[in-house]
Amino acid sequence: MLQTGVPGVTGRSLRLQRAGRFTEPNESSNAENDTAVDGELDVPRRNAFGLDFRDFEKESLRNAIVQECYRKNHIYQTCEFANKKKEEYGKLDKAEMSIWECCELLKNYVDESDPDLDEPQIDHLLQTAEAIRRDHPHEYWLQLTALIHDLGKVLLHPAFGEEPQWCVVGDTFPLGCAFDNNIVHHQFFKENPDSRNPAFNTKLGIYSENIGLDNITMSWGHDEYMYLE
Ligand SMILES: [Fe+2]
Repeated sequence: MLQTGVPGVTGRSLRLQRAGRFTEPNESSNAENDTAVDGELDVPRRNAFGLDFRDFEKESLRNAIVQECYRKNHIYQTCEFANKKKEEYGKLDKAEMSIWECCELLKNYVDESDPDLDEPQIDHLLQTAEAIRRDHPHEYWLQLTALIHDLGKVLLHPAFGEEPQWCVVGDTFPLGCAFDNNIVHHQFFKENPDSRNPAFNTKLGIYSENIGLDNITMSWGHDEYMYLE
């Protein structure tokens, strides 16, 4: 069993803290709990705001915040910027702490790029790990992965540089090549200087076929920080 390290907090109480987000295994799909069954999983039909998941277009106060986060992200994330950040944080000299101490640093941060969630990131980590423990009780590695998957968001904390949201959260994408039309809020890339760089404006840009993901510069953020070694 994955231990959360939170005194008095069990998987069940965590699930129930946020009514409607998770259902107990025996509660099959029905309109009352607003979940659907996908294979063996109970999947909520609606997000925290009562809307469809990952709907970036629907007009709402939340989506205005999300859009502003992506606007800045898409304008300022250039290949040069991402490589500089990778070099700076590659020194891994900011702080040293346990996984649980790291989780606790996230108690005051809400991810502004997420259209579905407005809870502190520590809740998100615990809920994700607990949901996976419910659905995959013997896959300990997967439960642990869920717990740590967003720890890179500590970049928002003063101990790790107090970076702005636009260079910490959100989906990531390759730089040094043309921006794909399927990237969320693609329209904002027109103000990114890289979109005017002819060396970057082709499908492969500065890369060649089969170069390998290790050789691609991705936009900088919490995911890339977690990949550093
Ligand atoms: Fe996450």
